[in-house]
Amino acid sequence: MSRERVSLVLAAGASTRMKSKKSKLLHNVLGRPAIYWALDQARWFSDRIVVVVGHQRDELMKVVADYHLDVDIKFATQTEQKGTAHAVQSAFHEIEKWKLEEADIFIMGGDAFLLQRETLEEFSKVHQSTGSVLSLMTAVLDDAGAYGRIIRNERGQIERIVEAKEASRPELAVREMNAGFYCADWNFLRETLQSVSNSNRSKEFYLTDLVSLARNQNRLVQTLTIPYQESLGINTQEDLALVASIFQKRVNSYWMSIGTEMLSPSTVWIDADVELGQGICLEPGVILKGQTKIYSDARIGAYSVIENSEIGQSSVVEAYSHIKEARVGPQNKIGPYARLRPGAILDSEVHVGNFVEIKKSHLAEGAKANHLSYVGDSTIGKRCNIGAGTITCNYDGFHKYETVLGDGVFVGSNSSLVAPVTIGAGAIIGAGSVITKDVDPNAIALERSDQRELKGAAEKFRQRKKREH
Ligand code: UD1
Ligand code: CA
Repeated sequence: MSRERVSLVLAAGASTRMKSKKSKLLHNVLGRPAIYWALDQARWFSDRIVVVVGHQRDELMKVVADYHLDVDIKFATQTEQKGTAHAVQSAFHEIEKWKLEEADIFIMGGDAFLLQRETLEEFSKVHQSTGSVLSLMTAVLDDAGAYGRIIRNERGQIERIVEAKEASRPELAVREMNAGFYCADWNFLRETLQSVSNSNRSKEFYLTDLVSLARNQNRLVQTLTIPYQESLGINTQEDLALVASIFQKRVNSYWMSIGTEMLSPSTVWIDADVELGQGICLEPGVILKGQTKIYSDARIGAYSVIENSEIGQSSVVEAYSHIKEARVGPQNKIGPYARLRPGAILDSEVHVGNFVEIKKSHLAEGAKANHLSYVGDSTIGKRCNIGAGTITCNYDGFHKYETVLGDGVFVGSNSSLVAPVTIGAGAIIGAGSVITKDVDPNAIALERSDQRELKGAAEKFRQRKKREH
């Protein structure tokens, strides 16, 4: 009979070393809270997961509930953080609800989720094939810092783990450390964990004491040495940056492997949920956030930031553009220095140029706003041309109002369109007009006082000024 499985994620700790108000598991790694990455890793082992929560318990539970994972997640509360063994013990009550007999429990800290799937698979194979009651992952480092040290006997078998705080000088010199991933036989865990004591310097119940307890019972403990990078966890802000950069490398390598051009991958950040089509070019410094989707053959210019948006096929976003919750159709030309705000919907072949801001507006096929404009709460018809400096005056301090332009409208530069206002198809607005009334189709609307000209007055003015000095 195959053994049952449970994953246990320890996430009750106080994140003291992060020096942040937020639990480290709520910090963002490539667009998702760290706890999501931890749950994904836990799920590779089993779709039964217990998360031990304590510090910021309610916030963590809420974020996990929002993930809508198709797995059986239970929460166990560890009211006081008395150490990793105590955290595991706090989960027993929840694990028992599954009424397991023969089972393996995979234990991981919620702060360490860089394992590759193959590594975890190999680990569970090693654990099962050797019939050990406890298996754990180790890694080798020049300086194992604050990690627990692996102490082996003369035959090379693991005897115990000594925490850095408790270690003697020769023990501290050991380069093999405890990576913090364990697989334990459920019955062994239940029987043995209660023997763990807190008679150590930090008065904590160390999960790592399980190793010597197993060895004292003459039970087999197995180790698997993994690449150091996979063992990294988040304890400090610096760790967070390092872990994020490892994911960044993995994600960017994947996209390059399917043909994305990226000349400076270390400067490009692509969130985990972003989707890219074929033949895309991402220039240096591009940041793609959230649920962004870029269709094939698009090019995103340097230092552009795109969040929860779509960029259509063969569109070009030039440098320094900022696009958020917007939908850009195919063959658009956006930027440089364009800003598309939530609700900007652009059909095909639309041009939005430098220092143009578009909010909650629909621009139909071929519409152009190339320079220095604000278009808000508007519907812009096909092939409209919005001249430089055009502003839709959509707000009177109390309410927002809509501007509608029919197809082929030409708006002269520096016009103000005071909403609510509708300009009929094919109409022309003279430059500098303040339009407060609807304009009929094909009309020319001008709002501007007559120009006066005083012949020779400029020369006379200059003469007078000279005399005065
Ligand atoms: C732990 C190991 C250490 C190992 C390292 C690997 C112990 C005693 N030490 O040290 O040998 O090298 O991981 O990363 O286990 N937690 C709780 N409740 C508690 C205490 C901790 O839920 O009472 C959680 C934390 O939130 C964290 C995880 O357990 O996610 C590990 O705890 P942490 O304090 O980070 O242990 P380390 O000092 O890193
Ligand atoms: Ca840790």
